[in-house]
Parts: sequence; C-alpha cells; structure tokens
Amino acid sequence: MSVLKIAIQKSGRLSENSKKLLEECGIKFYSGISVLKTTASNFPVEVLFLRDDDIPQYVEQQVADIGILGENMVFEKNKDVDIIEKLGFANCRLSLAIPKEEKYTGPHYFMNKKVATSYPKILSDFFLRNNITAEIEEISGSVEIAPGIGLADGICDIVSSGSTLLTNGLHEVETILKSQAVIIGNKNLIAEKQEILAKLLFRIRSVINAKENKYILLNAPESAVEKICSILPGMKSPSILPLVNKGWCSIHSVVKEDQFWDRIDQLREAGAEGILVIPIEKMIL
Ligand code: PRP
Ligand code: ZN
Repeated sequence: MSVLKIAIQKSGRLSENSKKLLEECGIKFYSGISVLKTTASNFPVEVLFLRDDDIPQYVEQQVADIGILGENMVFEKNKDVDIIEKLGFANCRLSLAIPKEEKYTGPHYFMNKKVATSYPKILSDFFLRNNITAEIEEISGSVEIAPGIGLADGICDIVSSGSTLLTNGLHEVETILKSQAVIIGNKNLIAEKQEILAKLLFRIRSVINAKENKYILLNAPESAVEKICSILPGMKSPSILPLVNKGWCSIHSVVKEDQFWDRIDQLREAGAEGILVIPIEKMIL
C-alpha cells in the first residue's frame, strides 16, 4: 500500500498554515517523538518537516512526492517539478529595498551597486532583463541587516507585512515578483500515489472554497424576493422558505467573501432584514 510523502516547512512563515490545511482536510497525525517526519493515522500520507529551501530539490528527487512552499522558493530553485495547486495563503512579494534616506531613481539606481539576497537566481534574471550590472551578495538569512553593517547597498528579500524593512530602516523600491503558497509535485508519481493526491486535492479545494465563501440567511418581504435573488446567485440558486408571518420568507444562499460587504449593502437597500452570515466549514462543488 503506497503512502504519499508530503514535505512542509519545518519552521517559518508557512509551517503553521501548512499543518493547519492538512488538519482541516481531516487528516490526523501521530504526534511522535521524531521532529523530522510523522504519519497520518487516517489517510495514507506521511509528512516530512524540511527547510523550505530544500523542498524543490527533494520533490524533484522524490525524497518527497509533493511539497507545500512559497512560489518564491519554487522560482528561485527552478527544479524540474510541477506546480499543482495555488493555496491562497502566505501571500508576499520579493522586493528590492534600500536605506530609507536614499532617493530611488529607477532600476538603474542599482548599476554597479552591491545587493544582498537569498534569491540570487531571480535577482540576476531581474538585473539581466533591465540591463543592469550589479554585484549580488548571496546570504542565507537576516538579509535585512546587510546595508546597516556595510555589507551591501541594498537588499532583495521577501516582504509580507513590511515590518522587517521598517525596523531595519529600509524602504521598498521595486517588486520583482508576487508569491503565495503552492503545492508542487514530482513529475513521475506512480498511479497509486496519484490517486491519493487526487483525493487530497479534492479535500484541499473544498477547504479553500469554504474559506472563500460565506453562508447567508435573511428575511425578506415576498415582494423583494426577485430583487434579492438577483443580488445573491448562490451555488445553483438561493433557497426560499416561507415564514409564519404572512408575506415574508427566509432566503438562504452563499456569498463570496470578497463581494461580501458590497452585497450586504445592496441587500439592505432591497429590503432584507435579520441578515445572518455564517462561516462554511467545507464546500463541495
Ligand atoms: C521573510 C523575510 C523577512 C520576513 C519579512 O522571511 O526574510 O525576514 O519574511 O516579513 P515581514 O515583511 O512581515 O516583516 P521568510 O520566512 O520567508 O524566510 P526564511 O524561510 O528564509 O526563513
Ligand atoms: Zn527558508
């Protein structure tokens, strides 16, 4: 019986959410003493805890079958793996930053300057595209302190909230790429592992869909039903239940998280009352 080996980040920006995603898919883990890997008790998967920087290589070599990590690392390592699914968390960007007192004049600012980064490949591609000759100082961590200690004129690093740049007196001047967590996979998975992966992806998509949608219930006079249904298309179409109160009904539907506030305003204008909005745990389309 095959087991799908999943690599996730051992500690860092992605590790908690990666674990949480698997748990939300109903996968339970033995919390063994080993900090390197753990097996699920109710689904044929094994989780390996690794440095995100190493995950692309391990997936290419099939030490792990699939991995959860940031696109930034996938692009940097440029290994022969498939990007299987975007996961919508750990959103960030890879940016160039310089000391805040420095005036930025455009990409040519970096001509003949020295830039510290853990992303030498993406950065050298960027400089090449912009015809810039600059020196790249590759360092593996704490890149943001490089200008302060005189190691470099600027940095190229991951920015999420921006607080790391702020506390180190740097300002962001150029975004090179945007990134989110993705699943990558080995290109030669055997049929049995592909089957497990398909089941896992089905669960993951249900979890992501659920997060992107809310269940909404409201009361409305019958005269407003048509208008309200046009505001709330629902998965197929809204459900309408009669209320004891004559001339009134209750409407149930699903609304996208990102359209949520707009729709609520429109619904109130159309005559909706007693609006309840409820999180959805799983959503199977
Ligand atoms: C990145 C980057 C900064 C931090 C920025 O680390 O190196 O330290 O996040 O986040 P902020 O804008 O919210 O302050 P990441 O966890 O990607 O690096 P690692 O995997 O190399 O440890
Ligand atoms: Zn890392």
